Amino acid sequence: MQVPFHKTHTTNEEIEAVVEAIKSGWLTMGPKTVEFERRFGEYVGAKHAVSVNSATAALHLALKAIGLQEGDEVIVPTNTFVATAEVVTYFNAKPVLCDIEEDTHNIDVSKIEELITPKTKAIIPVHFAGQPCDMDEIYGKVEGRRAKSEGEIFIIEDAAHAIPSAYKGVKIGALPKTDITCFSFYATKTLSTGEGGMATTANADFAKSIKINRLHGISRDAWDRYTAKGSWYYEVVDNGNKYNTTDINAALGLVQLKKQDMLRQKREAIAKRYIEAFKDNPNITLPVIKKDRETSWHLFVVKVPNRDRVIEELKSRGVGCSVHFIPVHKHPYYKEKFGYKEGDYPVANKVYKQSLSLPIYPDMSDEEVNYVIKNLLEVIERV
Ligand SMILES: Cc1ncc(COP(=O)(O)O)c(C=O)c1O
Repeated sequence: MQVPFHKTHTTNEEIEAVVEAIKSGWLTMGPKTVEFERRFGEYVGAKHAVSVNSATAALHLALKAIGLQEGDEVIVPTNTFVATAEVVTYFNAKPVLCDIEEDTHNIDVSKIEELITPKTKAIIPVHFAGQPCDMDEIYGKVEGRRAKSEGEIFIIEDAAHAIPSAYKGVKIGALPKTDITCFSFYATKTLSTGEGGMATTANADFAKSIKINRLHGISRDAWDRYTAKGSWYYEVVDNGNKYNTTDINAALGLVQLKKQDMLRQKREAIAKRYIEAFKDNPNITLPVIKKDRETSWHLFVVKVPNRDRVIEELKSRGVGCSVHFIPVHKHPYYKEKFGYKEGDYPVANKVYKQSLSLPIYPDMSDEEVNYVIKNLLEVIERV
């Protein structure tokens, strides 16, 4: 049997929606995009939702909206996909890496304070695997700076894994003390449009800035300019980017959005089966989900001894696995450019050596789940 690490959930409904979008004759950002933004905002409970073509774009424009400048610092967990740190470098600012918690693999809030300097402009917590970070504790770290002349510290959530996730009963995307939340609709994500992203915010100025800068800094979107209500005239009011999405992607997103709760339930059912099967095995450390939050179950990460051999053995038996993540401080570019030291991230180093992401996607059959369980238990006995 072959069980790939990921299979995208797409049905005839998604295919028909895309065909309809193409037949409408409006291929780029248009009415479907507007509808997707409205419905996404309603779903997570956000005042404004602005779509872009990736989470990387959303993070970039979020940092631009808060006014990040050359020489500023942004605190980012080292256990993340490189995009979270990369966007900071677009401004010639510095990503300041923070170690993580051993149980959740999220940013270790107790280590944030020592990293805050007068140059700190933002913190980007990453909701790893879908589990929300300790947001109240993070807000607590910056509250003193919010009103002070030395400069506010903004909170931008990297929610690439976190749809649908909730913190203390509030969906990620709608936490009132967060400035901007950024989602990913990349091919392997829980809501996929192939490539895509969304920024949500309660702040009208941030929403306006992201909207303008996703399309060359033009004061009005293509949709406004080319419809009957628009005219040929536009003004460039900022040095923006070409980050808009398309109606083809939005049509796909609208179908996927409707199914989010059902798809999450399916992943949760798989997670429960893994937990039941592995809970008594002393060589498998299970993910820890804190009581007051709900994870999307985007990833199911276990920790095992001899991780590399376990991956190879599972691969030879047809089970696809992955590793999330190679910590940012280990990548040559970042190490050389910013001088990160291995010893500063002991927990991330330990977690990285042991972590293994198992397949968890809604359309996994019972046989496939059983096959993964059986083979992981066998392989763990052997290595
Ligand atoms: C934590 C995290 N942040 C950001 C991104 C970037 O997302 P995108 O590919 O939509 O730019 C990813 C993608 O894998 C991610 O895992």
